[in-house]
Amino acid sequence: MFKDIHQAKYDLIDKGLPSDLVIDFGSTFRPRYIEYASKNGAKNCLSIDYQKGDFPKGVEFEQMDFSKDRIVQFLDLYRTKAPGKCLGLMYDILLHQYGPLHVLRNLLSTVDHVCLGNPVLKEGGDPCVFLPSVPEDEQGECTPQPTGYGV
Ligand SMILES: C[S@@+](CC[C@H](N)C(=O)[O-])C[C@H]1O[C@@H](n2cnc3c(N)ncnc32)[C@H](O)[C@@H]1O
Repeated sequence: MFKDIHQAKYDLIDKGLPSDLVIDFGSTFRPRYIEYASKNGAKNCLSIDYQKGDFPKGVEFEQMDFSKDRIVQFLDLYRTKAPGKCLGLMYDILLHQYGPLHVLRNLLSTVDHVCLGNPVLKEGGDPCVFLPSVPEDEQGECTPQPTGYGV
């Protein structure tokens, strides 16, 4: 168990730096991680979130839903502008996705290395947990597509 989860997240980023490009998926709520990367060895920084936010100079922002499949084409193209080693930050985002495995598979295909952190439930702890749900008539769009990899 980590005493300071923020420090643990910074320590993980240190292991992935330096990097030509760092992409923070879901950064608006807490931009401190991409800011840290930009000050500690990331040549280029990109934040992706569907909510607008304030980011320091040197961090590019793209307002986008990264659970949509077009993220893969978008980042393929983006990476031609910032070639080289690419590190993805995926901190506390998976539990917010309707099809977390599908999103994870897509996002992993866009980066070379990843820092991933996700909350887990403490056994016997608070019984409240957010499980994504979606109205039945919208489920077609959210259901993970068959991948052939058995996920
Ligand atoms: C719980 S916060 C995590 C913030 C930060 N990464 C951290 O570890 O503290 C989740 C962030 O991801 C964004 N987000 C969640 N799902 C998203 C999606 N599908 N597309 C874009 N942004 C998303 C939210 O707007 C929010 O800023």
